[in-house]
Amino acid sequence: MKNSGEALQGKVALVTGGGRGIGKGIALKLAEAGAAVAIGDIDVDQAEQSAEELNREYGRAGFFQVDVTKEESIDTAVRMVLEEFNQIDILINNAGIMFRTRILDISLKEWKNTLLVNLTGPFLLCKTVIPLMKKNNYGRIVNISSSAGRSVSTLGGAHYTASKAGLLGFTRAVAKEVSSFGITVNAVCPGLMDTQMARDTTTQEELEKFIDSFPIKRLGLPEEIGDLVVFLCSEKASYITGASVDINGGDLMI
Ligand SMILES: NC(=O)c1ccc[n+]([C@@H]2O[C@H](COP(=O)([O-])OP(=O)(O)OC[C@H]3O[C@@H](n4cnc5c(N)ncnc54)[C@H](O)[C@@H]3O)[C@@H](O)[C@H]2O)c1
Repeated sequence: MKNSGEALQGKVALVTGGGRGIGKGIALKLAEAGAAVAIGDIDVDQAEQSAEELNREYGRAGFFQVDVTKEESIDTAVRMVLEEFNQIDILINNAGIMFRTRILDISLKEWKNTLLVNLTGPFLLCKTVIPLMKKNNYGRIVNISSSAGRSVSTLGGAHYTASKAGLLGFTRAVAKEVSSFGITVNAVCPGLMDTQMARDTTTQEELEKFIDSFPIKRLGLPEEIGDLVVFLCSEKASYITGASVDINGGDLMI
């Protein structure tokens, strides 16, 4: 088993969508920094696999099935996390979905579903977890938005861009409300990352074209998002709140 770092020693983190991709990279880095990590995912087998990997390396992970669009599912998962770990200090709203559908072909169902997972999910999680953080006068919330939220999505449709832009506004509003309780709320805006979501929705040829257009000519890695999230959750970032932090290889410069 590896030695874990000090930065988040004694902290408990809940990562939604932690079963694969960016969420898994974040969970790994939080564990490496010393946090106990609860991995929540709608796909419980993936969550279990992620937790097993973390447990082999660091020995402090649990897995929980959660559908971020359903209040009952969130209540049950949070109760189970508290039973196992007693507290939640860090919430990472990472679970998300993306469709490439163009505006005139987006059905109302697909629109609602995208907004439900990507925007309503973080709202429901925040409503459930912030009261626990307030009691401890401490908390770190990181919402995984996208460069789509700052500009326009490379791949996703208008519903995806709208959901990620909405998440940035949500981040700022909540950050302002909870700052007096020792809680910071920030958003991370990744560019195109090397995950299943990107691979499943593009051809290799398309990916190569995108990569060629980036100043840093490669896709981002989930662990790189994890390193940024660890920083935002650390004491060193205690004066940062309501921020939208870009990490995109220079694809978007604002
Ligand atoms: N991959 C990219 O290029 C990229 C870029 C910018 C932002 N993002 C964002 O980062 C986040 C993670 O993306 P990824 O590429 O790792 O995606 P992914 O599809 O590889 O993983 C997403 C995870 O979320 C889970 N999930 C989906 N719906 C859920 C629900 N209702 N409840 C709980 N869990 C659910 C999935 O089971 C999966 O494990 C998303 O919010 C995405 O929008 C991704």
